[in-house]
Amino acid sequence: MTIIQDAVDILKSNDRGEFSVPTHGLYPVQFNWDSAFAALGYRQFAPQRAVREVELLLEAQWADGMVPHIIFRGDHDGYFPGPDVWSTGQPTPTSGITQPPVAGSILRRLIESGVEVEKDRLAAMVRRLDGWYDWFTRARQCEDSGAILVIHPWESGRDNLSDWDPAMAAVVPDTGLGDYRRRDLEHVDASQRPTKEEYDRYLTIVRFGRDCGWDQAHLGKHSPFRMIDPGMTAMLLRSERDLVWLQAQTGQDISATKARIKRLEDGWRSLWNPRVKGFTSRNLTDGAQTDAVSAASFLGPYAGMLDHLGETLDHFDRIASQVEYMIPSFDPNSEGFDPQRYWRGPVWHVINNRIGLGLQEIGELDRSERVRRDTARLTEKSGFSEYFDPLTGEGLGGKSFTWTASVYLDWACDQSAVPTA
Ligand code: SER
Repeated sequence: MTIIQDAVDILKSNDRGEFSVPTHGLYPVQFNWDSAFAALGYRQFAPQRAVREVELLLEAQWADGMVPHIIFRGDHDGYFPGPDVWSTGQPTPTSGITQPPVAGSILRRLIESGVEVEKDRLAAMVRRLDGWYDWFTRARQCEDSGAILVIHPWESGRDNLSDWDPAMAAVVPDTGLGDYRRRDLEHVDASQRPTKEEYDRYLTIVRFGRDCGWDQAHLGKHSPFRMIDPGMTAMLLRSERDLVWLQAQTGQDISATKARIKRLEDGWRSLWNPRVKGFTSRNLTDGAQTDAVSAASFLGPYAGMLDHLGETLDHFDRIASQVEYMIPSFDPNSEGFDPQRYWRGPVWHVINNRIGLGLQEIGELDRSERVRRDTARLTEKSGFSEYFDPLTGEGLGGKSFTWTASVYLDWACDQSAVPTA
């Protein structure tokens, strides 16, 4: 009961009224997929607050349909890079890229579990989701395969994934960056965060976006970093399926969504890599496919895709026998695995949650239970950290994390112990 109360207290302490911050200090602003997961947690004890979290996120939608990855609400002084660096010219300042679209899937979860939303209000949110997903097809979809690319590592949500290394090496750091102050290192040990070499390139890509006026179609074709991402492809595909459900609830036309789903299914299949027998990333600039299994390789069932399920589960079982806590963000057998450095190996509750749900839905109950139980054990051992060492269970990165608390509360812990609103 105490840990459950701690989770609720963390959500309340990161609540800024109508939006939540991922954690105090390190991330003092609204982030796209963090807000979506926050709603998952609020659902348990403040359902209308959960709805408002998603609604406010969607209100930051650009005229072209994109829902940005950061919305600079509240006091953003402690975050770098701030609105002056992004310089997107939006009425409420935002970043100029997006992030994995899980908000719609979580909105469906709210409605399905009985949270009441007035019909017109829900319809407006659903239309915004439709506009966002349609934007992906115009600005981030590979014309040949239908898979989804990211134009910045931050867009993938998996910032310093080792898959991105070759593409990042080809980004020539802007010589005008000068000295800049990384605020993240005031909160987290540098050994658990991206390197300066990576930050130089992150900022170089932001400058490229700013210099082209955040022309998203141009970025999709010319960004110095363009990686086709199985994570983004799978999460968008799942979101589109959940959008069909939401559109049916609100009497909206589903035909365009159905057509987009077909293309995304082809896109997911195009990421199959026969060399490693897994779904992997590809560099759009030189066509090179990466040869490592990241956690995103296990998102097929979540996306409703069962191609190569046997080979996927073989990788799952191999990795499960190598780590104490599933699911490491990167294959422990691959060069580039680092159990403590952000997305190069640590376990993340949100990824576990999505993969675990997918496995559960297809009846892979032993494996989904392994993921759920490991997620719970991590928090019961090390609290509500941002991410965790898959070998030792040590809590890493920021503390008192919103999405860690939400996933524990809504999925990982013993649900019969959670008080309902
Ligand atoms: N995750 C990034 C950061 O570390 C932003 O997307 O600030």
